[in-house]
Amino acid sequence: MTQQSASRPRRRGPRAALATIAVVALAAGTAMLYATSASAQSATLGAAAAQSGRYFGAAIAANKLGDSTYVNILNREFNSVTAENEMKINATEPQQNRFDFSSGDRIVNHGISRGMAVRGHTLAWHSQQPAWMEQMEGTALRNAMLNHVTQVATYYRGKIHSWDVVNEAFDDGNAGARRNSNLQRTGNDWIEAAFRAARAADPGAKLCYNDYNIDNWSWAKTQAAYNLVRDFKQRGVPIDCIGLQSHFNAQSPYPSNYRTTLSSFAALGVDVQITELDIEGSGTAQANSYRGVVNDCLAVARCTGITVWGIRDSDSWRSYGTPLLFDNNGNKKPAYDATLAALNSGTPVPTTAPPTTVPPTTAPPTTAPPTTAPPPTTPPPGGSCSATVSLNQWQGGFVATVRVTAGSSTNSWAVTMTIPSGAAVTNTWNAQASGSTGSVRFANVSYNGRIAAGQSTEFGFQGTGSGSGMTPSCSSS
Ligand code: XIL
Repeated sequence: MTQQSASRPRRRGPRAALATIAVVALAAGTAMLYATSASAQSATLGAAAAQSGRYFGAAIAANKLGDSTYVNILNREFNSVTAENEMKINATEPQQNRFDFSSGDRIVNHGISRGMAVRGHTLAWHSQQPAWMEQMEGTALRNAMLNHVTQVATYYRGKIHSWDVVNEAFDDGNAGARRNSNLQRTGNDWIEAAFRAARAADPGAKLCYNDYNIDNWSWAKTQAAYNLVRDFKQRGVPIDCIGLQSHFNAQSPYPSNYRTTLSSFAALGVDVQITELDIEGSGTAQANSYRGVVNDCLAVARCTGITVWGIRDSDSWRSYGTPLLFDNNGNKKPAYDATLAALNSGTPVPTTAPPTTVPPTTAPPTTAPPTTAPPPTTPPPGGSCSATVSLNQWQGGFVATVRVTAGSSTNSWAVTMTIPSGAAVTNTWNAQASGSTGSVRFANVSYNGRIAAGQSTEFGFQGTGSGSGMTPSCSSS
């Protein structure tokens, strides 16, 4: 049985010859093409988000990876990480053409070794530039910026889920103008030049434009970012996602039209990621805002993940505003409870995107499992599952997104696939891979083994070579 891709598409640029292929493997005689209701109650943020194929991440600092309270929360709750500072330009290229990936590697390796997705932050930005770059202008700066993008994205190629290619390029006035910066002064096309360089260096990473104060749909800066994305999509400049930093406080509160902003960006054909969420406040008011943000994301199929900008309040760049989900001692706050509950009760993402393109070809999403093609035998005790894979293939590499759907509820699952000869798995998220060539087994990680009947979770992997023709088979207990 073959079905249109069950997963969000990635890039569609004219450069890349892409194929989206989906294969359904049946372990229990029938396939659920989309989840119906999120009845499962997951105990952690990452697991709850994974029920609808989303990630829940945190910005982390390499120098805190020895703090056991911090690391315990990180490993327990999150399935994505971002370097808070370690992959910025001043960290990765402290002297021109002398690259230093040591701190960035600590973050990336911590995440990858635990099956987390890694967001790369950030390749081109007016702030936190090394001194040599701050002093540069003109052609020399343009070339140095492009070299930086190329070198860093190449070094991390195969390891990054999404890159914030360009950060904060618009100013805060009412004109929707570009921010005046040394990068902007190299020419208005500096942003698209950065995106093209990033795509060439790492065709498997999603490429995002990231900014703050683009949350309120009625603000000029939001419209400016929207127009940039629309223009890039129209002209075929490679862009896959918009990052809304979403730092909320009294001056920039969580807006009532946030969902409109998310869905409007999504309608342009890009993923929407909430990239640096923190909300100043405390108690019920803060919890309500977090709940609202999560519900808004869940309501938009292409809102694919949320990252909070730190773990405990004391870790925050705005610690005075106590804007995070854990208090200084690492205890869960009301905002945590509200976030987890919202993720657990959320609307699962439709398996097609944009949501209107592919009508379901099987029974409508009622809660009962489809009655067509009953399993030939009684389902094995302890769970059954099926898996679909959607593939984005380009010259020399691919990203596979695998959706695992439980026929009956599972405690653990594994998907086995034969990787075509000449191809190899280089990086996996939300699953643990055994081997990289030939027959590769992808087992659940701690937070996504349990899937309620009819529910789904997603994992992904990146590979070199051609991934065409992989057929997943799913087993569970
Ligand atoms: C902040 C970090 O959290 C701080 O530790 C650092 O001193 C300054 O930068 N927008 C961004 C992030 O894109 O990189 C910023 O992070 C917060 C605002």
